[in-house]
Amino acid sequence: MTRPPVLGVPLNDAKTDDLYLDLTQSNQRLNSDQELGYEVLVGLSSLPKRLPSHLIYDDRGSELFQRIMGLPEYYPTRCEEQILRAYAREILNSVAKRPFNIVDLGAGDGKKTMILVEEAQRMKVDFRFVPIDISAGAMRGLVSRVRTEHPDVAIQGLVAEYTAGVRWLASQSDGRSNLVLFLGSNIGNFDRANARGFLSRLWASMRVTDRLLIGFDLKKDIDRLLAAYNDSEGVTAEFNLNLLDRLNKELEADFDRSRWRHFGTYNVFSGAMESYLVSMEHQTVHINRLERLFTFEPWEPIHTEYSYKYLPADMDSLAADSGYRVEARFLDQDGWFSDDVWAPIKRPVEADLSPAE
Ligand SMILES: C[S@@+](CC[C@H](N)C(=O)[O-])C[C@H]1O[C@@H](n2cnc3c(N)ncnc32)[C@H](O)[C@@H]1O
Repeated sequence: MTRPPVLGVPLNDAKTDDLYLDLTQSNQRLNSDQELGYEVLVGLSSLPKRLPSHLIYDDRGSELFQRIMGLPEYYPTRCEEQILRAYAREILNSVAKRPFNIVDLGAGDGKKTMILVEEAQRMKVDFRFVPIDISAGAMRGLVSRVRTEHPDVAIQGLVAEYTAGVRWLASQSDGRSNLVLFLGSNIGNFDRANARGFLSRLWASMRVTDRLLIGFDLKKDIDRLLAAYNDSEGVTAEFNLNLLDRLNKELEADFDRSRWRHFGTYNVFSGAMESYLVSMEHQTVHINRLERLFTFEPWEPIHTEYSYKYLPADMDSLAADSGYRVEARFLDQDGWFSDDVWAPIKRPVEADLSPAE
């Protein structure tokens, strides 16, 4: 059965110099001004007020996140890098029996993924690299770096929401396997129910020969968690406050960031690091493109991000509840972070049994 193209823009029709496709710029714009406006209108009209975390990643937000990953307090990147360096070959062997795609959902700067890409090159296996990210800036940077530093790597980047990436996966019918990456604790941005929902949708797009490599930040000393989200240089605060600048720029709002502060806290009960922007005084903000005024009370928060932390038992039940078998679990030396290889539990269809084209 031929699967439908994603949003009417089949990848194979991309012009050869189109190393990435911006699906947000296609007819069915995913993150148009209207969509941003709608998300902000809904979020700031809710009680308590909240904004979806993906809005933090405009071009400046992505640059700031890259700085965060280099901070001494931000352990997840170092831990995951250690895991990937130690187990790259084992991970790749889970899909390398036939040609495959490395599909990186929320790829960011892709630096850690390059550990897998370089190992796949050393193994001389047939693979394509398909990074997907909502941030056009991050995608531009990643694709041009790969093109310069690894001209032999076949790369096709997608500027798109995770869900469009999942639909892209379902649209592939060339018999290749997929190693789907969800690294950097991206899953932590979903609460438990939404994590199950997202992984179940991903399951529906995967074939029996595909594998998911998923990074979980593990529960650990609370002080270490707090430090990672409240770094001494204030980069995480800047990352969060940048969201107000984005709304000023893109929706013609008049947030005055000197009246706001970043607050990162750990909820021991839910197991989530939670990030907020807190209004330090009574204020009214005009968002011109929404033709709305929003009032904030002193110390009223806007929730901006969750980063859920996991116990191995939580990961096991999440896998089971969303249709996967845990095939391997790789931890860093400190036991702070885990990259799991999950296999979708499903029956093979004919295409999965025949060799890829
Ligand atoms: C925490 S960073 C991790 C980046 C990378 N995976 C890593 O491990 O270094 C999250 C990345 O996911 C992207 N992202 C966040 N929400 C997204 C969404 N809903 N759809 C697509 N990308 C998203 C961001 O732009 C950012 O690059």
